[in-house]
Amino acid sequence: MSTKLLTPERWTPWGEAALRIPDGRTAIIWQGIPGERAWITPTGAGNNQVHGRWSGADHPHPHRRDAPCPKVSACGGCPLMHLDLPGQHQARLSMLRAALDFEQVEVPLPQTVVPSPDGDEHYRHVAKLAVGFAPSGETRLGAFGRGTHHVVPIPGCNVVTPTLAKLMSVVARGARDLGLRPFEVETGRGDLRHVVMRQSRKDGRVMITLVTGRGGKLPRELAERIQDQDGAVTGVAMHVNEQPGNAIYAAEPGEAPGFTRLTGTPLLEEELAGVRLRVGPGDFFQANPGTADRIARDLVALLAPWRSHPVVDLYCGVGSFTLVLAQAHGWAFGAEVVPGAVDRARDNALLNHISAEFAHGKVADVLPEMKRRTEGQGPVVMVDPARRGLEDGVIESIEDLQPAALAYLSCNPRALARDLAIFTRRGWTVRSLQAYDMFPQTAHLETLSLLLPPSAPKVTRRAPQRRRVR
Ligand SMILES: C[S@@+](CC[C@H](N)C(=O)[O-])C[C@H]1O[C@@H](n2cnc3c(N)ncnc32)[C@H](O)[C@@H]1O
Repeated sequence: MSTKLLTPERWTPWGEAALRIPDGRTAIIWQGIPGERAWITPTGAGNNQVHGRWSGADHPHPHRRDAPCPKVSACGGCPLMHLDLPGQHQARLSMLRAALDFEQVEVPLPQTVVPSPDGDEHYRHVAKLAVGFAPSGETRLGAFGRGTHHVVPIPGCNVVTPTLAKLMSVVARGARDLGLRPFEVETGRGDLRHVVMRQSRKDGRVMITLVTGRGGKLPRELAERIQDQDGAVTGVAMHVNEQPGNAIYAAEPGEAPGFTRLTGTPLLEEELAGVRLRVGPGDFFQANPGTADRIARDLVALLAPWRSHPVVDLYCGVGSFTLVLAQAHGWAFGAEVVPGAVDRARDNALLNHISAEFAHGKVADVLPEMKRRTEGQGPVVMVDPARRGLEDGVIESIEDLQPAALAYLSCNPRALARDLAIFTRRGWTVRSLQAYDMFPQTAHLETLSLLLPPSAPKVTRRAPQRRRVR
């Protein structure tokens, strides 16, 4: 197929433009924009899909711009970078609308996206980097390239903080100088697999985790070099992952991935809505803490009508929203599967003198205990699941808690739409839906919904207002 004039009709959930072509297949167009008639150059074809890339338009879309990153197509991490910010917001909202329409969920749609408080560039406070070979055979650090498993160096990355961008080069240079090689699962040869760097928005300090295929002295030497070269680095930890697959951390479900301290103190301090939060290696913490702070404040306001009710926070990480809500409601109970994050959540409760408890385990397994602890109190439930959304059976167990209200924070509109469809079929009402820019330049959209159960619970017991923090 030669270059053709085509007009895409819709967005894919991954931020490409798409249209049905006359032979019945779907054309997926990198850097296309729905509604813009443009020249498309074919790049590949399969049975059901053809792929192409945008190569020009006589009348460019009013929101089109030159992507401000030379690696935009090689890296692929920022598929909406060819749109200005209002255009990106419209695109993300139209993906949300498509997901809700697909599941036939009728909800009040947000008209706007709350912008990222730290702007649409350099907002990312975490960089998860892969390690691979350059064509010259040298070790390189970067992102897996678009549609490949080749590592593309991204030292000038527009979305990570400037400190993290600079540190990428420091780590890559150090790895090369010391002779660390990319780890190859097939042969068990090599050293380094991934590098995870997180910077605190609160104080600018950086924690680094070297994910290696095997231990040895080279990772320690690399850690010492990084720590010596950059005063922002608070500490470097190591995690050994010899398992096949692309997961960064190796751990059996429910087990703690092991981390060894190599240098300094690999622990960061963050802050959300005035609550101090320590974050350790392997813990989840939001990539854009500026937007997370805004969401935390909005959550408190959203759930204000139920201030006298206790809070149950499912998928709570290091207790981020649990503690913010516990402060407002008097007490909260969080559940989290990563044991290190649960330890941190308990420490964070003590650090802030906030009354909250935390259970370690899968949400589905700890919900019965949460029911016993909140019986007759009409808890307010908060959920913030991973991209796959709520697991089977969790919605029914949430109903068993007889909650007064549910706040659902989601990073995946398709999983959200599926779950909202189940809730509404079971008689729940979606009272509001707000969209937040957590990941500008990408197709990801964070949303916060408020749901009300079919009938208000009978509250027969007062919520605990414990002084003693466990
Ligand atoms: C999107 S994060 C949200 C964390 C927290 N609310 C925050 O904002 O920092 C999801 C969290 O759920 C945890 N998780 C994933 N599956 C889980 C499960 N089945 N049960 C309990 N926690 C789970 C992850 O480890 C992660 O910490």
